[in-house]
Amino acid sequence: MTFEEIKEELRARCDVVDVINGYVPLKRAGANHVACCPFHQEKTPSFNVNSSKQMFHCFGCGKGGDIFTFVMEYEGVDFIGALRILARVAGIPFEEEELRSGGNFDPVKAKVHRDKKEVLYDLHERLVGWYQSNLRSEAGREALAYVRKRGLTDDLMVTFGIGYAPDSWDACCQWGSRQGIPYEAMLDAGVLKPRNPDRPEDGAYDLFRNRLMFPITNPQGHTVGFSGRALAEDSGPKYLNTPATLIFDKSSVLYGLSLARQGIRERGYALLCEGQMDVIACHGAGFTNAVAPQGTAFTEQQARQLKRHTEQLVICFDTDNAGIHAAMRSVEIFVPAGLSAKVVLLGEGEDPDSLVRTAGPEALQARIEVAQDFFEFLLDCLIREHDPATPQGKGEIAAAYLQAISNIENMVTRAEYCRRLADRLGVPEDYVFQQLNGIVNRHKRTQHYRQQQHRSQQEDAAPAASATPPATEESVTEKAEADLLDIALNHQDYARRLFEEVPREYISEGEVGKALNLCIALTAQGEWEDCEDALRESLAAKQVPAISRILVAPQYGRDAAPKRLAIAYRDCRKRLIDNYFAQELSILGQELARAADLEEKNRVMRTILEMKMRQRQMVSAAPAPVTNS
Ligand code: UTP
Ligand code: MN
Repeated sequence: MTFEEIKEELRARCDVVDVINGYVPLKRAGANHVACCPFHQEKTPSFNVNSSKQMFHCFGCGKGGDIFTFVMEYEGVDFIGALRILARVAGIPFEEEELRSGGNFDPVKAKVHRDKKEVLYDLHERLVGWYQSNLRSEAGREALAYVRKRGLTDDLMVTFGIGYAPDSWDACCQWGSRQGIPYEAMLDAGVLKPRNPDRPEDGAYDLFRNRLMFPITNPQGHTVGFSGRALAEDSGPKYLNTPATLIFDKSSVLYGLSLARQGIRERGYALLCEGQMDVIACHGAGFTNAVAPQGTAFTEQQARQLKRHTEQLVICFDTDNAGIHAAMRSVEIFVPAGLSAKVVLLGEGEDPDSLVRTAGPEALQARIEVAQDFFEFLLDCLIREHDPATPQGKGEIAAAYLQAISNIENMVTRAEYCRRLADRLGVPEDYVFQQLNGIVNRHKRTQHYRQQQHRSQQEDAAPAASATPPATEESVTEKAEADLLDIALNHQDYARRLFEEVPREYISEGEVGKALNLCIALTAQGEWEDCEDALRESLAAKQVPAISRILVAPQYGRDAAPKRLAIAYRDCRKRLIDNYFAQELSILGQELARAADLEEKNRVMRTILEMKMRQRQMVSAAPAPVTNS
């Protein structure tokens, strides 16, 4: 079966109401089914499921989509993961690697690959058991005393699968051969290290020796690797991790995520700590929303995984140099991923683990409540690092800070941080603002370029949807686009008019804008009827609340009053025209200010006047709404 076939098959076999009902009990309410939303905390149901459209939408948090989106969100899996789960429910067998590799599928190779991964998952599970039994054996006596001394209860040890690797060069090796585990599998899992990497037949030794073992799991809870903490001084790095394997890549795993999913949803944010001991101590103290990138930089993959559960991070790193810099750098990841962050400030030499152990959960809770806004924190750090009294220092602070805020979507928010920066540095706001706009425009250009490239390559990735911003210029335009999309989907005559009366470049590059352009294009080809299906299809891999809302609960349905429709159409169309010309005119305004001589000034002025004329013509080109009904 091809990718498309299996998607179709699943759509045909799985009813959205049945699928969601399996997770969240639904109640009938008119044409829809409703429930309390599983994606945010609420007491009255605003989560709607529409059987005829095969879509869901939550009016509270804006999440919405089809069966695939729902399973992705709820289970925290990617698109293929959702296919796998639904295929199992529907009883359809499918070859996963075939789907992942597209056309060039080699069944033999795929099977070997899959079998190898299966073997590794299975081996890791057995290793966890073995390490755990060591901790409870005579050999693990000191290790167990150490864990207890660090305040871990037996419950926590079991929950996190804590174990012990004996102080030996071959204990693991021996165990593997007693268990009949192939030597290659032990090498593939990274627990054995070949004496000579070029000649594996020369034998291997245990990688983890005399270490406390922390299993690292994927979001589904399967162990994919280990981190081992040294128990003796001078025995290599404090924490030693499984090297990259077929199933493990440290930078794409968040420690503790499989156990934290529920807690993150309940608390509405993820507590981002540095390491394993922090996560475990936090969970022990009731902060079951703690996860950790394990000492390395926060990565894009990790951000994407978190984004499935929350948009809010509370960063709680160590207050040492490394911790502060890791926190500062995380901005490059979390802002583009559409996450917001606060920072918990700990005392010198403190980490979440030591804080909850010495001062109790209340102490951490109190710090979280007064967590600092991330960008305030960043500005404080930069001002500490550079001298804000010198021109060079000011320049360096501004450059770093503006770079960080330039990725913030909402321009009002961006402008506000900009104002605060100018304030702290004591420089005119205009200068800072101009520099910021330079960076933002550069981003827009590269982004545009990337989108173009991306579109020509593939259409199946899942970019993060941005948070709903308050009513800025941008979102007023977005709203107009959403209303036009709503109208176009339900009224073919208006879809045609959009094609004739709104040039494509007036429509934004945002998700709703793209959807609107898609519908206009389909209408132009005489395929207006396919618009809804096409949109549903495009939603399968991403979250666009505005679009799912329109599909589930249109505001301008087929029976909308003609006059209301006409007015809405006219106003929204005018909005897009005005927005387009405002942008063009602002560029011309800058040109005018920069014009070198009178002649050039006159030339730019003429263009501006022409533009304004065209704008008036555009607006009045569409017939005014009929008012006699
Ligand atoms: P820390 O040195 O702060 O460790 O490193 P910790 O979590 O406080 O550990 P304890 O309390 O001394 O046992 C933070 C994280 O960085 C990673 C680990 O994930 C660690 O938890 N790390 C640290 C490594 O991967 N390798 C190292 O050698 C050290
Ligand atoms: Mn620490």
